[in-house]
Amino acid sequence: MSQLPAQGLSHDEVMARLEAFRADDINWRSGRAWAYVYDAGEGAQKVCEDAFAGFLWENALDPTVFPSMLRLENELVGLVARHLHAPEGAAGCYASGGTESIMLAVKGSRERHRRVKQDNARLNIVLPETAHAAFQKAALYLDLEVRLIPVDPHTFKAVPDAMAAAVDPHTCLIVGSAPSYAHGVIDPIADLGAIALQHDLWLHVDACVGGWLLPWFERLGAPLPRYDFRVPGVSSMSCDLHKYGFAPKGASILVLRDKSLRPHHMYACATWSGYTLINLAVQSSKGGGPLAAAWAALNFMGDDGYEALASRMLTATREIVAGIDAIDDLRVLGTPEMNLIAITSDTVNIFHVADEMTERGWYVQPQLSFGASPANIHLSVNPKGQPHVPALLADFKASCEAARALPSGQLKAVLGDALASLDPATVDPSAIPMMLAMAGITGTGLPKRMAEINEVLDALTPPLRELLLVGFVNELYRPE
Ligand SMILES: Cc1ncc(COP(=O)(O)O)c(C=O)c1O
Repeated sequence: MSQLPAQGLSHDEVMARLEAFRADDINWRSGRAWAYVYDAGEGAQKVCEDAFAGFLWENALDPTVFPSMLRLENELVGLVARHLHAPEGAAGCYASGGTESIMLAVKGSRERHRRVKQDNARLNIVLPETAHAAFQKAALYLDLEVRLIPVDPHTFKAVPDAMAAAVDPHTCLIVGSAPSYAHGVIDPIADLGAIALQHDLWLHVDACVGGWLLPWFERLGAPLPRYDFRVPGVSSMSCDLHKYGFAPKGASILVLRDKSLRPHHMYACATWSGYTLINLAVQSSKGGGPLAAAWAALNFMGDDGYEALASRMLTATREIVAGIDAIDDLRVLGTPEMNLIAITSDTVNIFHVADEMTERGWYVQPQLSFGASPANIHLSVNPKGQPHVPALLADFKASCEAARALPSGQLKAVLGDALASLDPATVDPSAIPMMLAMAGITGTGLPKRMAEINEVLDALTPPLRELLLVGFVNELYRPE
């Protein structure tokens, strides 16, 4: 186990040691990483860093002690609400990320349903299978049943009739995405709004990844369906500023159509002996850094700055979609409506293509098959990526050719049947490291080439995938 130095280190030594931790990280500033990072360039980063550092020690737990935190939150919510055409009387709150915003919307819908409909049965939420996993996580935490509804296999959009058919008197929430992360398409929010109004349901539009960017895409002439509060029936929307707002991690905004919905997700506790506790969100103590940095990003970039960035991303997305369509082995899933692209292949192993892209110095994100969606490679387009598009496309072509020559299915042949016959409910957790070792994963290391492992995972049922992932991460995080 690591040990505290007997004598404190110098400032320089601390910084040098911390810097060394980064040695194996992805070089996200290169413009060659197509997931996880949102990079608007050094100017924007610097203002965020200064703002973050400037509010590092403020605590947004109590707005009466730190009115600066209240002011920042109110301004951020106001900016996002206006951006998403929320009506007069709307309200919202700051959250640490998309997951927390979603958690609040799910909780709000549950409490509202219980109060308004006086229904004490176990409630359910109705989701398209493309909705972010955070809804299922929230449902697990909040003891709600998840009804996962297949999407259209060509557009990857929610099918309103199928969603409506799944609604029953115990449904408290339906969900649409604007857009979905996996395929970058916008669900038919207007139809979902009509279902919500008909059944008096809470409709949450998950615009975590798209909420901040879509309005500029709309202004730039991208053909978009209506997705925000202009649609009747939309109760709440989540919009992450730490994605295409280009703020550092830790900033999402939940907007509610009406202030009267907000108490349903708030939490107050007067039955303990400490200070009076009342929270809008899940977090209680929270640093001012993310709020200040998000405010800084928005105000530094301004309307014209975001429009310029959106224009670069829209151009890059169109070039990539056209370029992928011109590669015989590859095709884009659905029609991306923002700047998120899913690429699959009917002829070569897509996981080998991902490995080959890694060999060529790119980071692209493999996504396993699920429901209507075949296994694919996800790209989140950044402004910094635009100059790299011709090289990216050339390397996709070369990667397909290389992938064609590589063997597939060997590990799957050895392991697939053995793993597939397991019942996840009866597997002893202590057996998981051994199973992982059989798949080539030992200790905390991952093989550099992931295709074989992804192929095995892809062939397993979701409960088995989850079992192996939990086993792997349980080994990965260990005290040093
Ligand atoms: C559409 C969508 N919703 C929710 C989330 C979850 O956000 P977070 O990772 O900030 O919790 C994401 C993350 O990519 C997303 O794309």
